Amino acid sequence: MNIKNFICLTAILVSFTLNIQSQTLKQEPLLYEFDALEPYIDAKTMEIHYSKHHATYTKNLNEALQSLPHIEKDITKIIKNISKYSIFIRNNAGGYYNHNLFWQMLSPNGGGKPKGKLLEAIEKDFGSFETFCNDFEQVATSVFGSGWVWLIYDGKKLLITSTSNQDNPLMDIAKIKGQPVLCLDVWEHAYYLKYQNNRIEYIKAFWNIVNWQTSEKLYRQYHE
Ligand SMILES: [Fe+2]
Repeated sequence: MNIKNFICLTAILVSFTLNIQSQTLKQEPLLYEFDALEPYIDAKTMEIHYSKHHATYTKNLNEALQSLPHIEKDITKIIKNISKYSIFIRNNAGGYYNHNLFWQMLSPNGGGKPKGKLLEAIEKDFGSFETFCNDFEQVATSVFGSGWVWLIYDGKKLLITSTSNQDNPLMDIAKIKGQPVLCLDVWEHAYYLKYQNNRIEYIKAFWNIVNWQTSEKLYRQYHE
């Protein structure tokens, strides 16, 4: 290799390294105001949840990834290979990813029932929409400690599952894996200010603000 090619190659490598190092994962913006989900989720809870909890997961994850400059900052790839990372990255990558998804599951214009193929699939796999809601509530209520409840698509059918802490069904360590269609945060930080220990009231309130359009879109993406 002549000196000119060596300098050129070095410049490309330095540029590539700097580019990877400078990547940061961004917290998705909320598409509604903190008080938009009242009275089902109060403004203070939303503000703390988004501005403190989710912001901290995002900051912690970016700081932890700075020490791994060779890692591509692709959150889906990281999540799907989470067993290769520390428990600190697992918790914060899950917290970052899950909340970005969760905000899209909520809408001040939400509620009602899903439509189209998603409703058909729910009725096929659970018997009826009402049975699905009851099953989802039951799983959400039975999460011990902090965690999430999910409606997932495993490639053949819809399933309800739960994960502890900030784990999710995309992670390679998940016992039941699948693509998220719907999720609900059942950490106490998501509801305690308004509902205290009445998690079931928070879960039932969720049906008034659930954004079925997001779920329908996700299901179509996986299913088609
Ligand atoms: Fe949360």
